[in-house]
Amino acid sequence: MTGGVGYIGSHIAVALVEHGYTPVLLDNLSRSDDSIPDRINELCGFNVPLYKTDCRDRDGLRKLLDAEGGVDGVIHLAAYKSVGESVKIPLTYFDNNISAMTALLDIMVSERLNNLVFSSSCTVYGVPDHREVTEKTPFGNAFSPYGFTKQACERLMADVARSEPWMRQVSLRYFNPIGAHPSGKLGELPGGVPDNLIPYVTQTAAGQRDHITIFGSDYDTPDGTCVRDYVHVCDVAEAHVRALNYVSESDIALDTFNIGTGRGHSVKEIIDIFRRVNKTEVRSEEGPRRPGDVDAIYANVDKASATLGWTSKYTVEEALKHAWEWQKSL
Ligand code: NAD
Ligand code: UD1
Repeated sequence: MTGGVGYIGSHIAVALVEHGYTPVLLDNLSRSDDSIPDRINELCGFNVPLYKTDCRDRDGLRKLLDAEGGVDGVIHLAAYKSVGESVKIPLTYFDNNISAMTALLDIMVSERLNNLVFSSSCTVYGVPDHREVTEKTPFGNAFSPYGFTKQACERLMADVARSEPWMRQVSLRYFNPIGAHPSGKLGELPGGVPDNLIPYVTQTAAGQRDHITIFGSDYDTPDGTCVRDYVHVCDVAEAHVRALNYVSESDIALDTFNIGTGRGHSVKEIIDIFRRVNKTEVRSEEGPRRPGDVDAIYANVDKASATLGWTSKYTVEEALKHAWEWQKSL
């Protein structure tokens, strides 16, 4: 698993072990914390192999394969993920996210490795015509270099699916992963000032930030604030296990699934639920819209349910409780 020490990868590692898989992690640790490998090992009950390697380093990828005697499948998460940062340093994003995918596919093709599961994002839909999106909803205009890299990686997968008909690939389009492991031992560690809603809320509740600014309250939504589909990170992790099983057994060369709950919550609702379930204050102020935000988007998850047998299990209340437990443990 590339990017295996990050927020989502660390939860997937634990889920894989729970399902009897033996993960091998690759991460250059550029966006993760030194404490995470030990936490993964503790939850998994053994030392999960970790290769401190850049995913763009083909020789490094080969060394991992030689040392491990091959792998049965690949989950590819290694990427930079900040939308705002990608606007400031687009070339760094193109280089890291697209080159990592190119190098990985190159090695998978040359070594005839099969079964790829890729971390995509609902950002590929841009501003859709309908708020509930299915996998058939076409790609929209990519607002950010980050969004473009996800579209480009999916395009690379489609082209390789044509050139290498033996290969099986799945793309998972996550909506908004939130929360933390119920043990309180794993969670999100945003570096610097968080871009995303939940880390900003938890840091505000913890007193690290004075207040959270609600980006826009004049949208065409029930309470005027943006609506998103917030899905617990452990549910996202479980979806990868299902996708890995599916891709290993399926005859379909390339498939795509939305990974969300199918329900939307507004920014105000999220802040209110956080306050209520955690019995804690979070100061909030209404501010201007954030450029590039879509007013409302949520997943149609019928396909993941029917094909992968996956639906989200955790409620948004549980996700916000777990996020707060994690923040308090830091
Ligand atoms: P993260 O930043 O916590 O984890 C990414 C990991 O990849 C980090 O540990 C980082 O060190 C590593 N990495 C980055 N570039 C690398 C490279 N070239 N070689 C090796 N390792 C590298 O992010 P995350 O939230 O866990 O996201 C994982 C994936 O899911 C990313 O591809 C991201 O774009 C995608 N995604 C995330 C979200 C979200 O809200 N978190 C939503 C949609 C899609
Ligand atoms: C963004 C990206 C998405 C990426 C995801 C995880 C866009 C258009 N989408 O999703 O591609 O996969 O992050 O990195 O950028 N909000 C506030 N105040 C804050 C922070 C956020 O009101 O301080 C609001 C935002 O306006 C938005 C909602 O909270 O309506 C969720 O924001 P965020 O957590 O950043 O996720 P997205 O923008 O949905």
